[in-house]
Amino acid sequence: MKLKVALLPGDGIGPEVIDEAVRILKTIGELCDHDFEFIEKLIGGVAIRDCGSPLPVETLDACFASDAVLLGAVGAPRYDDLPPDKRPEAGLLTLRRALGGYANLRPVVFYDALAPSSPLRPETARGADILIVRELLGGLYFSEPRGFVVEAGKQIAAYNTLRYETYEIERVAHIAFQAARQRRRKVTSVDKANVLETSQLWRETVTRVAASYPEVSLEHLYVDACAMRLVTHPQRFDVILTENLFGDILSDEAAVINGSLGTLASATIGGAIDLYEPVHGSAPDIAGRGIANPIGAIASAALMLRYTAHLEQEASDIETAIRQVLDAGYATPDLQSEATRCVVGTAEMGQLITEALAEIVDR
Ligand code: NAD
Ligand code: IPM
Ligand code: MN
Repeated sequence: MKLKVALLPGDGIGPEVIDEAVRILKTIGELCDHDFEFIEKLIGGVAIRDCGSPLPVETLDACFASDAVLLGAVGAPRYDDLPPDKRPEAGLLTLRRALGGYANLRPVVFYDALAPSSPLRPETARGADILIVRELLGGLYFSEPRGFVVEAGKQIAAYNTLRYETYEIERVAHIAFQAARQRRRKVTSVDKANVLETSQLWRETVTRVAASYPEVSLEHLYVDACAMRLVTHPQRFDVILTENLFGDILSDEAAVINGSLGTLASATIGGAIDLYEPVHGSAPDIAGRGIANPIGAIASAALMLRYTAHLEQEASDIETAIRQVLDAGYATPDLQSEATRCVVGTAEMGQLITEALAEIVDR
């Protein structure tokens, strides 16, 4: 198998965690005789610093010349006062739109070894296995018009638009139902249809798409109620289908089920080129210290093998390796609890998962 991967490590802990994802990919490439080729480019704050743009043309060209993109994170405090379209985050949003992936899959699986790291009671969290399907190219993030209202040189107001086209809802709903068919056959569609027209259209459209999937059950839940139930009854969810902003917020919330945002991975599919990124950001509070949790990035590499390369065995071997290392009591500081036997840094965690993987593949 030949796979060309564009690496965009980005800012803060991005490069630290991407190094570990690459280590895993190189290992699996050698062990299973796959030819993974990497090309590294700038995005985000480092691209503003070196090229004056958060998404240089050269970066976008390299992504389009690849089979998949693996991104670390973007964003840094020194750019926080720039207008939205000049910030590091604009680089990521422009990239997402250009690549065209509209379905952002964010699996949240409870790790038994992390029961003591989770703020939830073990009996509440145990067995939780959720796939959040987040619409990624519409809604408040991209709709026009948007902007500031300036009077006499002073900003007196600001506005954004929340718009969804029917086809945007339909295409992501199909992804959610198809995923549910392979899982526990339940879709929870999350909206705010008691207030928003976009949510009413969302609900009607999802209900119509559901008719093509009679084996999958559909429920609708308001986003405020969903936010509560995610932490009181996470086991009741299978696939959560929701719009862009709600999906952003609910996925960070769902991260607490296993104790840290650092563990969550994502895959963005449906466009010209698939994009893989951990759910977390650049974590400026811990960047440069070698303590970031690389599991989200490593698990994103596993998703890349599953969805883009169709290497299901290799993907699940990586997931098993992650689980084994956690079961053995290793934890990065964000996961540390009374059950931790050994606190390790980013590179050690990557190395341990690599070693576990080598043993699994060898068997
Ligand atoms: P964040 O996700 O960077 O961090 C939130 C908290 O989680 C922090 O305390 C951080 O230390 C911790 N954390 C995150 N990832 C971790 C990991 N792998 N290991 C251990 N701890 C981890 O969110 P934030 O602080 O709200 O945002 C920081 C910057 O990141 C902002 O500029 C924001 O716009 C950007 N951001 C980027 C992405 C992305 O590139 N996909 C996602 C979210 C936020
Ligand atoms: C995420 C991030 C991004 C988003 C930001 C950095 C643009 O929070 O991937 O979850 O809001 O989509
Ligand atoms: Mn987010």
